[in-house]
Amino acid sequence: MTSLLHLDASARPEALSRRVGAALVDALRARDPGVDYTYRDLAADPVPHVTQAWTEICENLMRDQITDLSLLHLGARTASQKQAWRTVEPLLRELIDADLIVITTPMYNYSVPSSLKAWIDQVTFPRMNLAERRFAVVAARGGSYADGSPKAPYEHQVRYLSDVIVGHFGVAEPEVIVVELTNARVDPLLAHRLDDHVASLEAALVAARRLGARLASGGPR
Ligand SMILES: Cc1cc2nc3c(=O)[nH]c(=O)nc-3n(C[C@H](O)[C@H](O)[C@H](O)COP(=O)(O)O)c2cc1C
Repeated sequence: MTSLLHLDASARPEALSRRVGAALVDALRARDPGVDYTYRDLAADPVPHVTQAWTEICENLMRDQITDLSLLHLGARTASQKQAWRTVEPLLRELIDADLIVITTPMYNYSVPSSLKAWIDQVTFPRMNLAERRFAVVAARGGSYADGSPKAPYEHQVRYLSDVIVGHFGVAEPEVIVVELTNARVDPLLAHRLDDHVASLEAALVAARRLGARLASGGPR
């Protein structure tokens, strides 16, 4: 592995998703100091929403059946489309150039924050294939959405990201690390779950360090 793209999306600088993601990335870089590292803070430096011109690029690509990653720029033809491409180009370049993409995200209203969704919208084109790349997702949420729990059907955070990564980008299932019950730190009605949250956070930090070491160059795939 030579190239890592690290995306944070939480509105909170002290976010738990950021903290666990940093543990993963630190462990990876400690094992592989030569890694080519790119970082984006999607909350502090938001990506704009797609515009009409962006949708026209997308339609040009569909109409002309252009899916080759190196040819997607050919969808930008008019002045406004070329202007829209200037936003896409650096984001897409970072994604294409990465071997490993680490995405950290809070759960906002059962899904991912709009900051992350805006990035996904900008870089996702019809039938694009990112084979050979790997994704790791670190997700934090206030409640519990564990399999079998009452809220499990509301889980549109990791499930959504997995659907995009596997179903659209055509790559392997992402590695996933989840921190649950973070609201127990502040919500008196969840205070009885604080120990469960602390255990979840500790397990996530251990898993993140292990995963970072495993994903470093030379680690098993
Ligand atoms: C706008 C907003 C919406 C939220 N929606 C949910 C939600 O639907 N379900 C949930 O379990 N927690 C929800 N939370 C709580 C966050 O998921 C929780 O604070 C989590 O720790 C945020 O991740 P972070 O620590 O990485 O910032 C929400 C928080 C905010 C600010």
